[in-house]
Amino acid sequence: MSTKVYYIEGDGIGPEVWAAGRPVLDAAVEKAYGGARALEWVELLAGEKAYRETGSHLPDETMNALRGAALAMKGPLTTPVGKGFRSLNVTLRQVLDLYACIRPIRYFEGVQSPVKRPQDVDMIVFRENTEDVYAGIEYAAGTPEARKLIAFLRDELGARVDEAAGVGVKPMTAKGSKRLVRKALRFALDHGKPSVTLSHKGNIMKHTEGAFRAWGYEVAAEEFAESVMTEDEAKAGGSRPVIIKDRIADAMFQNVLMYPRDYSVIATTNLNGDYISDALAAQVGGLGLAPGVNMSDGLAFFEPTHGTAPTIAGQDKANPGSLILSGAMLLEHAGMPEAAALIHAAVNRVISQKRVTVDLAGQIEGATVVGCREFGELLGAGL
Ligand code: NAI
Repeated sequence: MSTKVYYIEGDGIGPEVWAAGRPVLDAAVEKAYGGARALEWVELLAGEKAYRETGSHLPDETMNALRGAALAMKGPLTTPVGKGFRSLNVTLRQVLDLYACIRPIRYFEGVQSPVKRPQDVDMIVFRENTEDVYAGIEYAAGTPEARKLIAFLRDELGARVDEAAGVGVKPMTAKGSKRLVRKALRFALDHGKPSVTLSHKGNIMKHTEGAFRAWGYEVAAEEFAESVMTEDEAKAGGSRPVIIKDRIADAMFQNVLMYPRDYSVIATTNLNGDYISDALAAQVGGLGLAPGVNMSDGLAFFEPTHGTAPTIAGQDKANPGSLILSGAMLLEHAGMPEAAALIHAAVNRVISQKRVTVDLAGQIEGATVVGCREFGELLGAGL
């Protein structure tokens, strides 16, 4: 049986990390299932390669294929400057309604970390990807738009806003919040995770962040009553597989440092999610190996979390680990957890042998630097 995966090579280091990483993914599937399963890779054009070949950074054929796709994976894409849109990544997320940004954070033995017990971190962040202050509704101080909005807030709503302020709007809906929390709860249940924590700043922003919390608990009660319980219900002796709890975002940052074992799946709003994903990645030793996926209801679009790294592109220095681990997430998602487990074991093995790309070598004492291609080969051999 073959599983179709659309892929976009990406710009900068994209071609190198694909060349090093794709054989590892294919080999893991081959090793786990013999010839019974395989990945069928179908290339789609986007970014600079697409522009060179078609004159468009995001050709219609690519978007049409992605609209009907279930699985896709991309390398990093350069944000073209002054080409009429903000970013290809943002365009893809918006047009495909990739509303959940999901990032697992786990520790790999041997990588230096700023905390004492990085191995206690095993979390997965579900970040809402379409709403919140990221909606792009903001006006610079002193502009006619800002003045108009401030006048409305003052005159019609009696709000106290300084006339000289820059202003932004933070829209959040029940639909947007609930579908994110629903995905997080579903994931926790399907993967045997013990808890989902709603992280929010609802004590201050009651009708946005606070509403996120309320909507989150609502989804749990309305749709997962059989399998999810609150902390209070758990204390009262309840026994259901998943606990839903909530923490104020600032406390959450303290708690993941001090009591990491208490947290597993984290469901959170767009801005909080941006911060906590990177903070947790740093807690286990940096962003070099962090994988990710953006999901709609139909499409899971996997990608490494780094950018195009233009200063090292074409030099065989890039670390393909983030792409390979994104591929492992894809394999898990596509029902091939045995192949994903082989990859995780290989990453552990190669890191413990201390033969790594230059970025990781800086974080591993006594490490020998290898190139992108060789790192991929070592991982392939370590499966
Ligand atoms: P970046 O992630 O490309 O680079 C930041 C630093 O990390 C650089 O020092 C780079 O050399 C290093 N680095 C990144 N990936 C690496 C890897 N795999 N191995 C070794 N070192 C690595 O971020 P930056 O410089 O802010 O962005 C460069 C371009 O990438 C921009 O055009 C940006 O818009 C784009 N970008 C695209 C993303 C995506 O497609 N999802 C995400 C982030 C940035």
